[in-house]
Amino acid sequence: MIQSLLAGCRWGAAGEGEAYAPANIALCKYWGKRDAVLNLPVTDSLSVSLGRLGTHCRIALSGRDDLYFLNGCEQAAGSAFASRLRVFLDHFRGSGRYRYRVDTTNTVATGAGFASSASGFAALVLALDALHGWDCDKSTLSSLARIGSGSACRSLWHGFVRWRAGVAADGSDCHACPLGREWSSLRIGLVSVCTDAKPVSSRAAMSRTVATSSLYRSWPQQVENDMTGLVAAIEGQDFDMLGMYAEQNALAMHATMIAAKPPVLYWKPGSIEEMEQVWKARTEGVPVYFTMDAGPNLKLLFEEQNQSKIQQWFPEMQVANPWRF
Ligand code: PMV
Repeated sequence: MIQSLLAGCRWGAAGEGEAYAPANIALCKYWGKRDAVLNLPVTDSLSVSLGRLGTHCRIALSGRDDLYFLNGCEQAAGSAFASRLRVFLDHFRGSGRYRYRVDTTNTVATGAGFASSASGFAALVLALDALHGWDCDKSTLSSLARIGSGSACRSLWHGFVRWRAGVAADGSDCHACPLGREWSSLRIGLVSVCTDAKPVSSRAAMSRTVATSSLYRSWPQQVENDMTGLVAAIEGQDFDMLGMYAEQNALAMHATMIAAKPPVLYWKPGSIEEMEQVWKARTEGVPVYFTMDAGPNLKLLFEEQNQSKIQQWFPEMQVANPWRF
């Protein structure tokens, strides 16, 4: 698969490759794979990228072994970070059996449920393209990033991005593309509840949900409805409609995993408190909604003109502007 995507590309390796990719938050979630090796999803998904919150990556050839740096600190070869990158980079050794030095710097909190792995793999693929001079189009780079982490395929673009599930068994029609719509007042607030390592990886939670959750049967239909609603909300710049569909979609995803056997529950008591704050703020007339990924933290959706009001409800939140990068 990777070989066919890179067929005909040159493999120069001069100097270093450098790139930036934004993290992204799904408004309509990717939950469940039709192929676990190629990270092919069961359904489409839709995200918004986080502007300046993401990953800077520099990559160069290294002498004997791979070297990995995260936020300036060298990572031990046996660490989870190094192991994940090594497995991914094994696809890109080329005939030169290249070894790499990778410097990753996150402007979004690392491993805290704010999608640093999505921006990390997207930035890495862009940096590899620059190092080797492949000169691939962005759809191809999106498919390559998808192999590292499914949601990474959406981090190749800023703004709203749709990932098409495709139908081909080899994933050749499975990549993301920009929606081509802007919403300059839309903001994302990151509310951290707990930054401990996840008890169950999203990969394991997805496969358990697909295999054992009776609620998963209705997920493709849920996505179809939510996707239509979200795209219409974006086209009509209807904030309440956007927030309602995004929040419902996240809760429905969590419902599917709570119904898995054994259950997967990422929420902490603090997650529920923050959800209740969002609902309370709404009953008091403050237009704010949330979404949540495979973790306990919340991402708030609101518009710029309401930011100071929302900051009073959530004083600790970090604000991302998807349209400034
Ligand atoms: O890309 P992964 O394997 O980390 O899975 C991401 C899954 C969710 O964040 C829960 C949903 C999504 O679409 O990003």
